[in-house]
Amino acid sequence: MEIIRVKDYEEMSKTASSYILEKLKQLDAPVIGLATGSTPEGLYRLLVDENKKGNVSFKNVTTFNLDEYTNIEPTDPNSYHYFMNKHLLDHIDIPKNQIHLPNGNAEDLEAECQEYENKISEAGKIDLQVLGIGVNGHIGFNEPGTPFTSRTHIVTLDESTREANSRFFNSIDEVPTQAITMGIGTIMESSEILMLISGEQKADTLNRLLNGEVSEEFPASVLHKHSKVTVIADEAACSKLE
Ligand code: F6R
Repeated sequence: MEIIRVKDYEEMSKTASSYILEKLKQLDAPVIGLATGSTPEGLYRLLVDENKKGNVSFKNVTTFNLDEYTNIEPTDPNSYHYFMNKHLLDHIDIPKNQIHLPNGNAEDLEAECQEYENKISEAGKIDLQVLGIGVNGHIGFNEPGTPFTSRTHIVTLDESTREANSRFFNSIDEVPTQAITMGIGTIMESSEILMLISGEQKADTLNRLLNGEVSEEFPASVLHKHSKVTVIADEAACSKLE
């Protein structure tokens, strides 16, 4: 696991954007895994800028998002479909049929999970997966205790995760209780992983990621078993490193 330490959120976003642009240049038909949340918003803003300036094209890019809530319309401002359109996908030249997010509204959610796995397999593999991390070490919506071998599945969200995400909703009662997430096994099959981590509230989390043991109780610790992981962390997130 390689760690790149940067000054602040803006520098984290710039470093991540340069990293991804470089990767996109290297591949003819890149398959990129995407995350939602506050952490990659700055990255997406910079990718949109680069696309608008003509410095990068997404015409040959395929994307797979990590997760989506269940029972939420894609047009609902709290859905991850809406988030991705707002922050990235509506503003770049990517063909719509190359964009993939789990359908949290599917009639048969189990079948949707399997279909999502199939689509990733049909695309070949994810060349670069962008990840954020929850305070409790979750990646995607894989909460503590999720098997490292898990595939795309339906999860019941931890109360701590619902609370953290309630900042986007009117109240915690509106936060869905379930989501579809890529599994940890699915994420681990990506050729490369780029994790972004920012802010003092994640300082203990980063310390545990780098210095703690590998355990299903801290899902992100699985990344120690992957051969190509880069973590970009800002000073505030690094402030409790032992
Ligand atoms: C979102 C996702 C989550 C977030 C994590 C951190 O697609 O998969 O694991 O990356 O909850 O969220 P933020 O960036 O809002 O702190």
